[in-house]
Amino acid sequence: MNITLKKDINSIKTGDTYCFFITEEQAASDWISKIHQPISDAISYIDIASVSGKHGECFYIPLVKVPSLIVCGLGKIAELKSEGIRKAGAALAFFCASKNITSISCITPSPGTFVEAECARFITEGIALSNYKFEKFKTKDKANKLIETLHIYSNDPLVPDIIREIQIIYKNTALCRDIVNDASYNSTPTNIAAAAKAMTSDKRVKCQIFGKKQIEEMKMGLLLAVNQGSLRPPQLVVLTYKGAPDDKRSIALVGKGLTFDSGGINLKTSGNIENMRMDMAGAAAVMFAFKSAVELNIKKNIYAVMPLTENMIGPDAYRAGDVFKAYNGLTVEIGNTDAEGRLILADALAYTVAKLKPTCIIDMATLTGACVTTFGETVAGLVSTDEELTSKLRKAADETGERLWPLPLYSDYAEDMKSDIADIRNTSSEKNAGTIRGAAFLKNFTGTTPWAHIDIAGTAWYTKPRGYMPKNATGYGIRLLVDFLREW
Ligand code: BES
Ligand code: MN
Ligand code: ZN
Repeated sequence: MNITLKKDINSIKTGDTYCFFITEEQAASDWISKIHQPISDAISYIDIASVSGKHGECFYIPLVKVPSLIVCGLGKIAELKSEGIRKAGAALAFFCASKNITSISCITPSPGTFVEAECARFITEGIALSNYKFEKFKTKDKANKLIETLHIYSNDPLVPDIIREIQIIYKNTALCRDIVNDASYNSTPTNIAAAAKAMTSDKRVKCQIFGKKQIEEMKMGLLLAVNQGSLRPPQLVVLTYKGAPDDKRSIALVGKGLTFDSGGINLKTSGNIENMRMDMAGAAAVMFAFKSAVELNIKKNIYAVMPLTENMIGPDAYRAGDVFKAYNGLTVEIGNTDAEGRLILADALAYTVAKLKPTCIIDMATLTGACVTTFGETVAGLVSTDEELTSKLRKAADETGERLWPLPLYSDYAEDMKSDIADIRNTSSEKNAGTIRGAAFLKNFTGTTPWAHIDIAGTAWYTKPRGYMPKNATGYGIRLLVDFLREW
C-alpha cells in the first residue's frame, strides 16, 4: 500500500472513494454540509437518516460521476480514545476489503480534544496495520485485494512526517508477520540470519553472524544443548546501529528465536504444538524494530541480538536431567526440555552483557504459556529490574496500544530454581507463577545491567483477529519498541 498526503479536496477524482469520519454527535447534526460539495449534491436524494456514527459503522454510497462516499463512525465523543480511532480505521480497511475497494481518500477529522495530526496518525495506523494477508500457500479461495492507495487529506504541517513514519512501520510489521507466519522450513535459523545480513545494504548497519562452530568456540553450552536434536545449525545474530556515535549510551534488544519448539524430549501434545513455528516472534520483533529504528534515523545506539535454533526430538536431543554450562560459566540442570527459550536467551543475554556492554537490555520472548493464562492474548507480561525502564515501557504501551503489564520479581521466586546437582535449574519445583519464574531464571544472566523482560507468548500470535491485529502473527512489539527507543 502506498500512502500519500493530499491537501486539496478538489483533487479527489471520480472512481475514488471519499471517506468521512463522524462521531455519533456529528451524525445527528448537519454533517452533509461539511463534505465535498459535488458529493453532497449527488446524495441529496438518498436517505441517510440511518447514518449513526456508531463506532466501526461504515455507511457506503457508491456513486457515478462524482467520488463514492463512505461515512465511518467514531462512536460517542466522550468515549473516544486513540485506540478507538485506530480501530475505526481498521473497520474501514475491512469494509474496503469486503467491497474490493482498493483506493481510498480519507478526510482527517479532529473530534473533541483530538487534533488533526493525532487523528491522521491513528487512522492511518489503523488502516495500514489491518491491510495485511498471508496467502503464500493459497492456490485458491484467496481473499479480496488489499488497499493499494491511501490518500490522507490534511493541511496540518506535522502530517507528512507522520505518514512517512507509518509507511516504514507498516512495511516492517508486514515483513515481521510474514516470517512468523511462514513455515518452519522457510523461517530457519540460517534464513533469518540471512535476512538480518541483508539489512547491511544500509551502510550504517553492521551484522555479525556466529555459526555452530563459533558458538561452540564461544562455549554457549545452553544454545548448543537446545540445538542438539536439530539438523539445522544454530545461529547467533548481532546487529549494530550507531545512530548517536558521540553518545556513550546504548541499548540491546534481545529476542527469542525458536524457529520451531516441539518441546524436545518433553514433547508438546496436540493442541499445543501446531503453532510453534511462532516461537521466534521475539527475534522477529526485535529485528524489525531495529530495522524500523534505522530507517527512521532514530539517534540512539542500538543492538539487536537474536539466538536462533529449533528445539527438536531425536537420538541426539538434550535430555531432562542433563547439565550444561552457560556462556557466563553457570551450570544449568535441565528440569524440562520444553523450557528451552530461557536457555538460549541466557547465553544471548550473558554474551550481550559481557561483549556489547549496553546501558540497558530489553528482551522479548514467547516464553511461557503461563503468560497467556494470566493476561490472555492482548496484554504482554513485563518483568524488570529497573523502575525507569518499566515506566518508559508502560508509557510506550499506552502510546501505541501494544499493551503490557508489570509482574513482581521478588527474590524468593529465584529460590526454588536452584538445583541439587548444578548451580541452577531451568524449571521450578513449584508450578505456579510460571512467567515470573522464567524471568527469575533469566536474571542470572543479566549481571548488573538494567533489564526488562517482555513475555509476548499471548500477544505475538492471535487465535482470532482483533481490531487492526490479524489472526496468527501480529507483529506485536515493533511499535512498542520504536516508540520506547525514541523517548529513551
Ligand atoms: N514456547 C513456549 C511458550 C509458549 C506457549 C508460547 C504457548 C506461545 C504459546 C515455551 O518454550 C514453553 O514451552 N514454556 C513452557 C515452560 C515450562 C516447561 C516451564 C510452558 O509455558 O509450559
Ligand atoms: Mn518450550
Ligand atoms: Zn518455546
